[in-house]
Amino acid sequence: MSLKKNIVNLKDLESIAKEKLSGKVYDYLSGGAGDETTIYHNKDAYNHIKLCPRVLLDVENRDLSIELLSQKISMPILIAPTAFHCLANVDGELATVSAAAKADTVMMVSMASTKSLEEIAHTAYKASANPKLWFQMYLQPDIEVNKVFVKRAEDAGYKALVITADSPVFGHRERDIRNNFHKLPNGLSLKNFDDDRLMLANGKKATLELSATTTWKDIEALKTITKLPVFVKGILSPKDAELAITHGVDGIIVSNHGGRQLDSVPATIDVLSSIASVVKDRVPVIVDGGIRRGTDILKALALGANAIAIGRPVLWGLSSNGEEGVLEVLKMLKHELDTTMALCGCTTVKEIDKNLIY
Ligand SMILES: Cc1cc2nc3c(=O)[nH]c(=O)nc-3n(C[C@H](O)[C@H](O)[C@H](O)COP(=O)(O)O)c2cc1C
Repeated sequence: MSLKKNIVNLKDLESIAKEKLSGKVYDYLSGGAGDETTIYHNKDAYNHIKLCPRVLLDVENRDLSIELLSQKISMPILIAPTAFHCLANVDGELATVSAAAKADTVMMVSMASTKSLEEIAHTAYKASANPKLWFQMYLQPDIEVNKVFVKRAEDAGYKALVITADSPVFGHRERDIRNNFHKLPNGLSLKNFDDDRLMLANGKKATLELSATTTWKDIEALKTITKLPVFVKGILSPKDAELAITHGVDGIIVSNHGGRQLDSVPATIDVLSSIASVVKDRVPVIVDGGIRRGTDILKALALGANAIAIGRPVLWGLSSNGEEGVLEVLKMLKHELDTTMALCGCTTVKEIDKNLIY
């Protein structure tokens, strides 16, 4: 539990972040596409799912650790990739990754980071002998650029690649349009693109692009140039989950990009069990979107996720108090999940199943 008695949950941290950040930045981090109905549903859907706890089971010794792709992780709570951490705190991704390494959990590092993937890895390996770093990519239209990124991620010690599939174009984000928030403030840049190897055939330096021509063939091609496991992030349809497996994907992230891409799609928790039924444990399934409570996490695990990921809460922690703030977020959620497990009669994550849903 938090030692600071006025900060007891993630909402408290969001309030602190809101006070600290400029309106434009707060809107960029918290906002989403269209009418933001999906942001609302992502959170609200959890309130409509009820738990059905078991009692009189010995729950004294509890273990929250999990195994994902043969790696032991301290808890089923991972950090989803989010862009531009330096908007939230001067140390940006370096603060986040130190917290992730100390908490012994996965940080998915966004390709759109404001520190380079190498600097982030360097900080992670200083904080832990075995940091759980995954690199998130938007596949670029130029295959040579993708090859450079894959090689850099492998060389820097990343353990998996996460390919975001829900962004052939940018979502329609009205808060950013109103605020005229279209570029990073002076002094901040997409550090991963400050690299001399990223030259295009036309002699120009590559910049981050969304590619509307990317298909499953590109995922297959990616699998031939790396030994790293490949997750596809942004799956909402069971049909795409099956296709992902057919095309050799090693893991699926059920996500609607925190409601920032297509508005009016269902809450991720509402599509999770139909995807889990198609996947049938062939590959791990991770879910993100609107997860703010230990009870939300238990519900997601019960409905078929192997782990969950959080996006905005990490940014609230980072804005409020840098590395310490991110650690606080991870500790709060871990503590809430631990309490929820005890109250539901579970001592390990494996014991959490559909029978715990009313
Ligand atoms: C400010 C912000 C930036 C994001 N940047 C990325 C990104 O660079 N790559 C990506 O795959 N997803 C990105 N996402 C989506 C997150 O990975 C994740 O899907 C989402 O935040 C989960 O929902 P939550 O914020 O409700 O936890 C971003 C989300 C936010 C809020």
